[in-house]
Parts: sequence; structure tokens; C-alpha cells
Amino acid sequence: MSIHHTELETPAGRAPLPESERPKLETLRERLQPLKEQPGTTIEALYAAQDLFSYVPPEAIVMIAEELSLPESQVFGVVTFYTMFALEPQPPHVLRVCRDLSCHLAGAQKLIGGLEDALGVRHGHTSPAGEFKVEVVSCLGLCDKQPSMLVNLEQHGPVTEADVPALLERLRNGAS
Ligand code: FES
Repeated sequence: MSIHHTELETPAGRAPLPESERPKLETLRERLQPLKEQPGTTIEALYAAQDLFSYVPPEAIVMIAEELSLPESQVFGVVTFYTMFALEPQPPHVLRVCRDLSCHLAGAQKLIGGLEDALGVRHGHTSPAGEFKVEVVSCLGLCDKQPSMLVNLEQHGPVTEADVPALLERLRNGAS
């Protein structure tokens, strides 16, 4: 028998999902149903959770483990292994820039600097208006599009420092 979301417990040491966000858990459960019979769908399930909440809340980890019949520790391990998943609430636009060799050689550092200058904040911090956060991450698997980045979970590349103003403008105007 399936456990209803109100019975999902928050793992120790993690902040529980705010009450206002809890209805989204049922949407997540619905999105998980097509994945249940397929092997190797943990990442897809985590994408669904992060798409709904902007991060992977502890209750989502419990639900994914339950629905996909996996140990919670295994789901948690996947979340923490991949840099595109967050364990804390995120601003609307998280810009994850790859800094590994291919992207570094193609100008990733200039791109990071351009984003920091335009947003007025160092990477790892949320911009003063609360809209953006720049993260510097390891290889995103987009080495053929260097320098590459993710805007939330959407792939972008190549992106150069010169592209920054237009990119931020599009995102401020509601593009993903
Ligand atoms: S080195 Fe940047 S995406 Fe692989």
C-alpha cells in the first residue's frame, strides 16, 4: 500500500518542507508513476522533484525511494553526487557554470566573472534581489559546447561573457 505524503517523515537534520509546498508532493507522486516500472530512473525522478520545488526536499527523497523501491540512502547518494541537484531551496534562476578543463580553456572563468559583475555577487551566493545564484561546478557532460552552463536544469552552450547581458535579460523577462 502506498504511503500518503502526510505520513512522510523528514530525515534527521533536514528542514521539513513548508506547509505551503506540501501539495506539490502529490504532483510529484503522479510524475513518478510512469517511472516505477523502469530501471535506472532515479535521476529522472530527481529532476521532477527539483523542477517542482527548486531543490530536492527531504520528503521528495523519501517519496522517490518509496515509489521506486530503492533505499533512501541510495537516492540521497545520487542527489549529493550530481552537482545539478540542490538540497536547499534555491532562487528562481540557478546558473551552474562548468569550470573543468575544456570549459576553462574556452573561457569559463571570464563567463563566471561576467556573471558575477552583472549580478553584483560572488559565485555561491544569491544576488541582492534574490533572483539569481551562480555556482561553479564540475563537468556537466556538455564538453562539446564549452564553455557550458545549466540554467536551472536547462543546458546552454557555448556561452561567453558577451552573452551575459542578453541571457540575464531573457531570464528576467521570464524565459527559462
Ligand atoms: S568540461 Fe565543461 S562540460 Fe565537460
